[in-house]
Amino acid sequence: MLSLWHDGRTPISSDTLDQDTYDVVVVGAGLTGLVTGLLLARAGKDVAILEAEQVGALATGNTTAKLSLLQGTKLSTLRKKQSEKVLRSYVEGNREGQAWLRRFCAENDVAVEARDAVTYAPKRGQAEKQARAEFDAAREMGLPVRWESDLPLPVPHVGGVVLPDQAQFDPMDVLAALATQFRSAGGTLVTGARVVVAGKVGKPSLRLEDGRRVRAQDVILATGAPILDRGLYFAKLEPMRSYAIAFDHPDAPEVMALSSGSSTRSLRDAPGGANGRRLLVGGEGHPVGRTSSERGHLDTLREWTQRYYPGAVETHVWAAQDYRSHDGIPYVGSLPLGGGNFHVATGYDKWGMTNAVMAARVISSSILGDEPEWAKPMGRRISGPKAVAGLAGINAKVGVAATLGVVGAAVSRDDERIPGEGEGYVTRDGVAPIARSTVDGTTCEISALCSHLGGVVKWNDAERSWDCPLHGSRFTHDGRVIEGPATKPLGRRD
Ligand SMILES: Cc1cc2nc3c(=O)[nH]c(=O)nc-3n(C[C@H](O)[C@H](O)[C@H](O)COP(=O)(O)OP(=O)(O)OC[C@H]3O[C@@H](n4cnc5c(N)ncnc54)[C@H](O)[C@@H]3O)c2cc1C
Ligand code: FES
Repeated sequence: MLSLWHDGRTPISSDTLDQDTYDVVVVGAGLTGLVTGLLLARAGKDVAILEAEQVGALATGNTTAKLSLLQGTKLSTLRKKQSEKVLRSYVEGNREGQAWLRRFCAENDVAVEARDAVTYAPKRGQAEKQARAEFDAAREMGLPVRWESDLPLPVPHVGGVVLPDQAQFDPMDVLAALATQFRSAGGTLVTGARVVVAGKVGKPSLRLEDGRRVRAQDVILATGAPILDRGLYFAKLEPMRSYAIAFDHPDAPEVMALSSGSSTRSLRDAPGGANGRRLLVGGEGHPVGRTSSERGHLDTLREWTQRYYPGAVETHVWAAQDYRSHDGIPYVGSLPLGGGNFHVATGYDKWGMTNAVMAARVISSSILGDEPEWAKPMGRRISGPKAVAGLAGINAKVGVAATLGVVGAAVSRDDERIPGEGEGYVTRDGVAPIARSTVDGTTCEISALCSHLGGVVKWNDAERSWDCPLHGSRFTHDGRVIEGPATKPLGRRD
């Protein structure tokens, strides 16, 4: 699957890693890594960004890229768990993130389209209650929202919250401009450099998959799920996979919309396609590896689109994952027991266009010895009972997924059946769970135990990957790491 943003692009080139020590090493070249690297390089630090695949390989190159302070029902959800001070800190951080990115795009000729953001209620009842609660929360936070009962959308709705003058863009345009500016500021950007071990004896040190080692005064893990288990972030995050499809259709929406209620639908337009504007539809999110059929989710999204945009012609389809923190506020700051030199930024809950920049501002200013006032309440928050319940909920679901995986493998048939093309299943060899799949005519057998902490992986029938239902690591059909907290491949069968 290839996102609209990656289609037709030449990957951003790699520099050579020609030093073994830097002031700062950033791991990961998504939006978080590139903005953080740029801010530190501009402040005079010697910075290297190490990227496992290519720039924008994961969430940022596969996002829907709405740059908005109206974020579905985020504010009203946070209001139930957080103090007003923390909520204001979140909004202010996102406002700063949005303003910084808009300024950056204007200064670097990156096309940004202004759009009204909409949270619409598809029906009466709970969905309308949620949208109205969002209206109240946004008002309280000083956002100039209005309620409209008739929105310019052909999908069923009983009204919605509108926040004018938000923005959308092509995220790969933004990453390309960031990479150029990072290099102009003296930074080194190395792609195809997967970090597999991060350790701290003296200065933080990193080992790459090919054996090279790099040291730095400060290391920033901008990898989505942190690749270091210290701090147990993997146990406090819920990895959510979701889907997006681009269509040619003459009535692409003129607003960026997200529904309230249980089956979220995301809509925006984008330049290009047969009609000059494309329609983008997103949704069908679920925890990674915890669904019976990923393909089924895509089909649901396609059927929904045909109902309200008849005749829409599919041009691109893709999927990606983002992480939800236990209390709804991103985790940004130094890792516990990391001597203050390891920093993480994750848990944006699908609102990373503003939050990644917010996180980059917080981490870079803490390294430079100055913390923005607006960030302090978020940084010093103490989890209340509802947030603690959120953590217990995440771990209870992980516990159920772990048990189901082990039981499923134990009762699976110990057989030699060859999966059909694009199929995979977990079987066993004696007691050892085996992941068997056929892709491009080749059948492959590897260990079904996730290299992170041993969860039993599950076949993703849309993306032909092995996905771990515990903490969201994903692997190619032949076991190479795609994403998640894992850094090592799935074990060979022998
Ligand atoms: C379907 C979908 C739609 C979304 N829509 C929106 C939206 O409309 N608006 C919005 O604000 N947000 C949205 N988001 C969220 C947003 O896209 C993300 O929060 C944001 O892109 C995260 O950026 P990041 O840089 O932290 O992570 P990523 O972009 O995932 O970057 C992490 C990078 O780290 C690299 N990496 C990982 N492990 C290693 C390693 N061991 N060594 C070296 N490199 C490594 C990866 O290859 C990757 O390039 C959406 C998310 C999804 C999934
Ligand atoms: S991601 Fe943690 S066990 Fe698989």
